[in-house]
Amino acid sequence: MGWLWGRSANGFGASTSAEEATEGIDASGLTVVLTGGFKGIGVYTARTLANRGAHVIMAGRNMTDGAAAKEGILKDFPQAKVDIMELDLASFDSVRAFAKEFSSRDLPLNTLINNAGVMACPFQLSKDGYELQFATNHLGHFLLTNLLLDKLKATAQSTGIESRIVNLSSAAHAWTYKGGIRWGKINEEQGYHNWKAYGQSKLANICHAKELARRLKEEGANVTANSLHPGGINTDLQRHLVGIVGVAARFFGSFAKTVPQGAATTCYVALHPNVKSVSGEYFVNCNIAQPSSYAKDDDLSRRLWDLSVEMTSKS
Ligand SMILES: NC(=O)c1ccc[n+]([C@@H]2O[C@H](COP(=O)([O-])OP(=O)(O)OC[C@H]3O[C@@H](n4cnc5c(N)ncnc54)[C@H](OP(=O)(O)O)[C@@H]3O)[C@@H](O)[C@H]2O)c1
Repeated sequence: MGWLWGRSANGFGASTSAEEATEGIDASGLTVVLTGGFKGIGVYTARTLANRGAHVIMAGRNMTDGAAAKEGILKDFPQAKVDIMELDLASFDSVRAFAKEFSSRDLPLNTLINNAGVMACPFQLSKDGYELQFATNHLGHFLLTNLLLDKLKATAQSTGIESRIVNLSSAAHAWTYKGGIRWGKINEEQGYHNWKAYGQSKLANICHAKELARRLKEEGANVTANSLHPGGINTDLQRHLVGIVGVAARFFGSFAKTVPQGAATTCYVALHPNVKSVSGEYFVNCNIAQPSSYAKDDDLSRRLWDLSVEMTSKS
């Protein structure tokens, strides 16, 4: 369906593939940590960045899937530098263990891609007692980013190359609860709505990147933070869609982006020189886009930051 979609002035649009978005870019020397890198658009992002020369550390919770993902990339690109590491974003202990293990490897870190996600699942609590979509999609990434931030700053300082943080959000951030965030009720089963909870967590991804970008600018760090919607892509993300919703998702899926197209905006924001010094923005189809009014509310982003610090401080 790519022929239906136009391209913007920068030459990129909905039909752009990850390969096109990174054409001619030499990423050798860059180290990337990518969450949710074993499946879906994550694994395609990993293979694209690795094919451009980056050392990609794919992080995920199922190491059998990880080994298969790594093997698949190496089969196509034997020269690729890819590693797998264990990370369960729904567990603060696991996030802390990952950061400790990463730090023990004494690697630089140029790029952090917060890609992993769950969508529209039935109500569940994470290992730390937080609503699962908020915990996985937002809190786990919030904690991970904070734990890796010094390394991102230090790498930028020692290399003179800007470090980048990329949060995978979704257009679904606009379908959140009234008020944007369910302040004081995030973990309440009563009133839980699987789609609104997904929207809330994806709104949090945008607000996280925006508030982080503001803080990084304020301190003069050579690190950017942006968020993006990858498009609609048929992946395992739809695993919780059953009944008529599942049928509809499969029908509309036939009009979806391909996985290479779905990985394009992530690869663009992570690597492209056009994005140098751009921070706090939301991208769609490799272009800056306007998110919802809640996502533009600076007070909401600051309040969410404080709440996230409080929630992730729990040991
Ligand atoms: N596909 C779309 O249409 C679409 C649209 C908008 C936004 N997005 C966003 O794009 C991102 C990638 O989605 P996708 O379509 O590639 O989905 P996917 O194929 O389901 O991949 C998601 C990845 O996240 C991992 N993950 C889930 N929970 C995790 C946890 N607790 N700890 C560590 N890893 C975990 C999954 O691992 P397991 O296999 O172990 O669960 C999987 O590798 C998500 O953030 C999603 O919200 C996707």
